[in-house]
Amino acid sequence: MALVTSAEMFKKAYDGGYAIGAFNVNNMEIVQGITEACQEQKAPVILQVSKGARAYANHTYLVKMVEAAVIECPDIPIALHLDHGSDFEICKACIDGGFTSVMFDGSHLPYDENVKVAKQVAEYAHAHGVVVEAELGQLAGVEDDVCAEEHQYTDPAQVQDFVEKTGVDSLAIAIGTSHGAYKFKPGQNPQLRFDILADVSDRLPGFPIVLHGSSSVPQDFVKKVNQYGGAMPDAIGIPEEMLREAAKGAVCKINIDSDIRLAITAAIREHFALHPADFDPRQYLKPARQAVKDMVSHKLVNVLGCNGKA
Ligand code: G3H
Ligand code: 13P
Ligand code: ZN
Repeated sequence: MALVTSAEMFKKAYDGGYAIGAFNVNNMEIVQGITEACQEQKAPVILQVSKGARAYANHTYLVKMVEAAVIECPDIPIALHLDHGSDFEICKACIDGGFTSVMFDGSHLPYDENVKVAKQVAEYAHAHGVVVEAELGQLAGVEDDVCAEEHQYTDPAQVQDFVEKTGVDSLAIAIGTSHGAYKFKPGQNPQLRFDILADVSDRLPGFPIVLHGSSSVPQDFVKKVNQYGGAMPDAIGIPEEMLREAAKGAVCKINIDSDIRLAITAAIREHFALHPADFDPRQYLKPARQAVKDMVSHKLVNVLGCNGKA
């Protein structure tokens, strides 16, 4: 199977009451851990690449690693997506450079400017067989080194107009999720605005909704990181049952990056603590890759519900 767009995946996910995992990839072990889990679980998957990932690993290396995964995992559909494309140029570079899906993130722009560029990206993308995600509302938390303190929840009254004017294929909304490993304060009761999600879904029947900032920050990883010399006090994520609930409805794509980082860091810290003499990167990258695979496998089955849907 060649790289695919997310169009068919989203249609089936919407109708089937589950979501597709969109996992950020930055190196070979991450690509392998995710796709090996998806191949085993027969789950469609979106591999997404941020601007920072392209700066770190290089566009061509990332595309070629994902293309290698397509060959190694012949039973599952894989889409290659640009995460948080900040302008038309980066979206165009990824469309021209082998991606099957791009996000134009104009969530920080005035509404009319967001509409204008999202439309421009959608026209270019569609002419090249690529699909587009856009965003309305703003997540709190860290994004490209910028930290927003407050959520700016999506205004449901805008979504229909935005989708009609831009022609985008999916829409990310802000309902209380946030990027990074510190999504709620200790003692705070984690809440998502399911009322906004319901309102948006009513106004856009059949239209795929995306949730960013959806890592669960598993506490066994946090414990391990802290036990073996790390310093991540009070790292808290989105409860898994809330994501499962969202996946049953209009949410077709759930973005996960921080949990991958945590799985890797916990595994490597543990390895270094227990095997201080090891210095061959394969000795500690192997358990790190396995930790990514186990974590992703758990999500596919218990959170996203997309196992067996390839
Ligand atoms: O939404 C942000 C993703 O976690 C990507 O993070 O820009 O540090 O690669 P990054
Ligand atoms: P997390 O930081 O919760 O993993 O979110 C990742 C994300 O939204 C990537 O776009
Ligand atoms: Zn995001």
